[in-house]
Amino acid sequence: MAGAKKLYIKTYGCQMNVYDSERMAEAMGGAGYVETDTPDDADMILLNTCHIREKAAEKVYSELGRMKPLKAAKPDLKIGVAGCVAQAEGDEILRRQPMVDLVVGPQSYHRLPTMEARVRAGATALDTEFPAEDKFDHLAARPKAQRGPTAFLTVQEGCDKFCAFCVVPYTRGAEVSRPAGKVLAEARDLVARGVREITLLGQNVNAYHGEAPQATNGPDGDWSLARLIRALAEIDGLDRIRYTTSHPNDMTNDLIAAHGDCDKLMPYLHLPVQSGSDRVLKAMNRKHDAESYLRLIERIRAARPDILISGDFIVGFPGETEADFADTMALVEAVRYGQCYSFKYSARPGTPAAERALVDPQVAGDRLARLQALLTRQQREIQDAMVGRTVSVLFERPGRLAGQMAGKSDHLHAVHVAAPGLATGDLRTVRITESAPNSLAGELIAA
Ligand code: 5AD
Ligand code: SF4
Repeated sequence: MAGAKKLYIKTYGCQMNVYDSERMAEAMGGAGYVETDTPDDADMILLNTCHIREKAAEKVYSELGRMKPLKAAKPDLKIGVAGCVAQAEGDEILRRQPMVDLVVGPQSYHRLPTMEARVRAGATALDTEFPAEDKFDHLAARPKAQRGPTAFLTVQEGCDKFCAFCVVPYTRGAEVSRPAGKVLAEARDLVARGVREITLLGQNVNAYHGEAPQATNGPDGDWSLARLIRALAEIDGLDRIRYTTSHPNDMTNDLIAAHGDCDKLMPYLHLPVQSGSDRVLKAMNRKHDAESYLRLIERIRAARPDILISGDFIVGFPGETEADFADTMALVEAVRYGQCYSFKYSARPGTPAAERALVDPQVAGDRLARLQALLTRQQREIQDAMVGRTVSVLFERPGRLAGQMAGKSDHLHAVHVAAPGLATGDLRTVRITESAPNSLAGELIAA
């Protein structure tokens, strides 16, 4: 596009930020911007930030500091901060780093083009409201460009759970579900553009309760996530559906049943528990205990025996004792996770737990190392057990070696296959032949 301005977006944090960055790029497309993958030739730089863990704001300030030479070389360059740090820090960013022109919270991205016009005129722009209107309505004008085979689709945002350690209820606000009709329309559009696998996103995605589409309105009321998944499964050309992230208390019977009888719903579930100690779970305000989580996993596995369970853990939560930590290790042994993320607790200002006394950082570090050793061993055992099995793989990109293609299995394992005829977007049956630390190798077999 001749004369188009260039936009560079740097994305931190979760998959929802990746999705939001795409939507921001599209919104700015309407204001005459094309995306660039280097900050050096950009007319505008947006940092899409994450606030979930330690020193998030400090990291953003130092990243901004590193951009000073860019701005000095090109005074017209506009710099914006988006995402959860923007929401949490607000106008403090403009005060502390005067080089920043624009601060926009996650619920206001549809206002970016108007904000851009303001900053072009030499003003600064700040918007960290939680407006009543749906930002996605205004972001709907997608270019009809072809897409890769996988896509994220945000269906729900925000959280009403208020776990004692978590900033999400403050940065992303109260739980809001998008109407089911809009989600279906967006999914159909993605499929028309080449997408074969959609991951539904939400901070509490299984709490989804979206307005039913017009045609089905009436006694049905809102749609649950299970109902939405079943409707998505009707879309021809959409082969795989996933969702993340879920809270144990919202794993309803209909969602568990969908794992058993909806072929397009992939056998993978990210279901964070955070701790295996009832005392710690209570202090975290998780509103469930270890036993109920284990029973829930049993019910899910009864519906879909080969499901791969993934989780999140926090160690060193204020008050966590060695006995509490032993409960966490025991829960991990009982569940057997195929994938896991584990973190040392970090106090997030403004959350209830931030007021409590910290566990000795060395003790917490030692526990994290022990937990990660166990999780890595489990992950590896589950991955190794795939050798000899037949899985479906959606190929996403060329592999590292010539003639190789790489993709994901239904269990979300990275798989590469040497087969020169394969193309991006192919969904094929593969026999797994080898397991390496972070990926599987396989060979095509006739469908
Ligand atoms: N400290 C450490 N880990 C955290 N998480 C969220 N807040 C904190 C915190 N204050 C982790 C949780 C959550 C994941 C997205 O990040 O495990 O599930
Ligand atoms: Fe944060 Fe998840 Fe708890 Fe909500 S349910 S407060 S997003 S950890």
